[in-house]
Amino acid sequence: MHFKKRPSWDTLKSSDITPESVFNDRRNIIKALGLGAVGASIPGQVQAGIFDLFGENKPSVPFITSPLAFTVNTGFEVNEAKTPFEKVTRHNNFYEFGTDKSDPAENAQDFKVDPWTLVIDGEVDHPITLGLDDLTKMMALEERTYRLRCVEAWSMVIPWVGFPLASLLKKAGLTSKAKYVAFETLFDPEQMPGQKSRLMGGGIHYPYVEGLTIAEAMNDLSFLAVGLYGKSLPPQNGAPIRLVVPWKYGFKSIKSLVRIRVMDKRPPTSWNQLAPQEYGFYANVNPDVDHPRWSQASERRIGEGGLFSAKRIKTQPFNGYEEQVSGLYQGLNLTKNF
Ligand code: MTE
Repeated sequence: MHFKKRPSWDTLKSSDITPESVFNDRRNIIKALGLGAVGASIPGQVQAGIFDLFGENKPSVPFITSPLAFTVNTGFEVNEAKTPFEKVTRHNNFYEFGTDKSDPAENAQDFKVDPWTLVIDGEVDHPITLGLDDLTKMMALEERTYRLRCVEAWSMVIPWVGFPLASLLKKAGLTSKAKYVAFETLFDPEQMPGQKSRLMGGGIHYPYVEGLTIAEAMNDLSFLAVGLYGKSLPPQNGAPIRLVVPWKYGFKSIKSLVRIRVMDKRPPTSWNQLAPQEYGFYANVNPDVDHPRWSQASERRIGEGGLFSAKRIKTQPFNGYEEQVSGLYQGLNLTKNF
């Protein structure tokens, strides 16, 4: 899907089929950073949108996944249609494998996740180093269906398999200095071409890093996923283990984790470092606080709607999880702390 020329369908007025936001997507930052040539191709969201609408997908490639044993946690079901597996696994943001939505599914298939080590350290009583097998043996796996709302104004509904982040942090034990939790993705430029090239990697300084306050991390919704749709995570979705924080914009849900570090200070976070005026530390889904370059009042549900009516729905405060998390932000100005 790397069109350099305008294909025939591009004679449609963009406003007929795509929201304004798609023309102002985050890759403008890449241009602003002088990383140029990206502008030569049409924006990834436009491509993704068009291919969703035409229902065109690449032929199925068998992603390497294996079935998982888990129980369904019915307390986290969503009364909305699940996004089809085909969309969840082919419309991705994982800049380590390229900035187009189709790049991760194409470029991540040889990503090696075995052996894998996850370290939990910092302000904890017992630092833990775990292999993936240890982790899945130690933690009872459950399925939870969550909404995922990307800051680019598209969304999905995904059945994840994993366990609450709090259960793992409790095993390590928090010291009295524990105020924040920092997360880090694997750094391996040999396997992740986006980490080698600033252009392919979207200008991010790798490794990709993220962070939560300790109260956010201990909230029951914060989840470490090792699978989706009942099987282990495909590489493009963040194999073998990723964070899912459903009330925040998707960029907080960091993929392919190698380290979770409990800290006494707020850690740096990747998108905030790249463009602090556009991406805050909190990044709570908020329809009342627009991105400087597009509205956050509504979102496009991936995989739903027809050719001329891409389904847009109203964005909900905290992505619909207000009841569970608004208490975390009492007294905080959410416009300033976006
Ligand atoms: N994690 C890493 N390491 N690298 C990334 O580029 N992209 C984020 C997040 N986690 C990203 C990442 C963004 S912007 C989103 S919207 C979600 O992953 C997308 O998750 P999905 O591809 O599984 O839908």
